[in-house]
Amino acid sequence: MRHLIAVLGGDGIGPEVTELAARTLVEAAALHGVKIELQEALIGGCAIDQTGSPLPEETLALCRSASAVLLGAVGGPQWPPEARVRPEQGLLALRRELGLFANLRPVTIHPMVVPSSPLRPELLRGVDLLVVRELTGGIYFGAKKREGDRAEDVCSYTAAEIERVVRAAAGYARARRRKLTSVDKANVLETSRLWREVATRVIETDFPDVRLEHQLVDSCAMQLVRAPRSFDVIVTENLFGDVLTDEAAVIGGSIGMLPSASLGDGPRGLYEPIHGSAPGLAGRGVANPYGAILSAAMLLRHSLGLPGAAWALEAAVSAALEEGVLTEDVAGPGRHPAATREAGSAVLRALRRALPDRSRHEMPMEER
Ligand code: IPM
Ligand code: MG
Repeated sequence: MRHLIAVLGGDGIGPEVTELAARTLVEAAALHGVKIELQEALIGGCAIDQTGSPLPEETLALCRSASAVLLGAVGGPQWPPEARVRPEQGLLALRRELGLFANLRPVTIHPMVVPSSPLRPELLRGVDLLVVRELTGGIYFGAKKREGDRAEDVCSYTAAEIERVVRAAAGYARARRRKLTSVDKANVLETSRLWREVATRVIETDFPDVRLEHQLVDSCAMQLVRAPRSFDVIVTENLFGDVLTDEAAVIGGSIGMLPSASLGDGPRGLYEPIHGSAPGLAGRGVANPYGAILSAAMLLRHSLGLPGAAWALEAAVSAALEEGVLTEDVAGPGRHPAATREAGSAVLRALRRALPDRSRHEMPMEER
């Protein structure tokens, strides 16, 4: 078995963390008898600088022919938001072109990282939630207009767009604790009223075993940090999901810890840590690679159908954390922070060490 994986490091710390994610991916797959071929391509600001486009044709063609895409981050102060051509356009176009409408952002916290969260430890114990963010619709992709002093962004959703992401989320809820929180702003927005209607119908008709609850996005933002354990699966539209998942990152201890998977109808997916390009950290070798490595684990699970390899890689990250190999964002006071590469090496060592034990590991919630 052989798979082609497109590797798009992007900007800032993107290439540094993606390199390690790719290495651990190759290793975890190899330990499970699967060969991976990596091919790099440009996206984002570096692609603009070299080709004039944030998503060159070549990159898109490579992604289409690959089994999956591993991505770092895009953007930076060199490419300001007011420019006509921006790095973020590359990422949005890629999500859209590959039809990746469901963005999975699981949030858990490892005990070693608990002290790095600003939240009290007793709130965090046992948190295990999954945000499913709609990724190819809503205000991100609506018409944009600027006329003198007036600007406009259109938010629109069709019932079909809502239905497919709600179905995906309900499927994950069914495999977990069977609770689905649909988040909207139905007291104000028409798109949200449609969202609520469709979510209710889909769950009543096809997922009677899943408990559906509706929450308004403002209230959900509060509940997330007040009682994060009360959530199982959250499904929400593009912009709300963007905001809520950065907030949820404080539950994970650091935004550097959290992975994501963007999926469509088929097995091909795009995997990226939820953190950005962190220009201030770039080139210093101190960025946290765990979110990127955990994204590679999601790639093994969702695109390559290798749950054993995925779980082995996740267990290796846990082992590295347990050894105290903590980058500066999660090291806390009094502990010498690990460099990016040291964290990557610790994961590779743990992977090799743990191989014979892998059958003993329990499956993670996400795929049960
Ligand atoms: C994310 C990022 C992107 C988004 C940016 C870089 C366009 O914030 O993946 O959450 O807004 O979707
Ligand atoms: Mg974001």
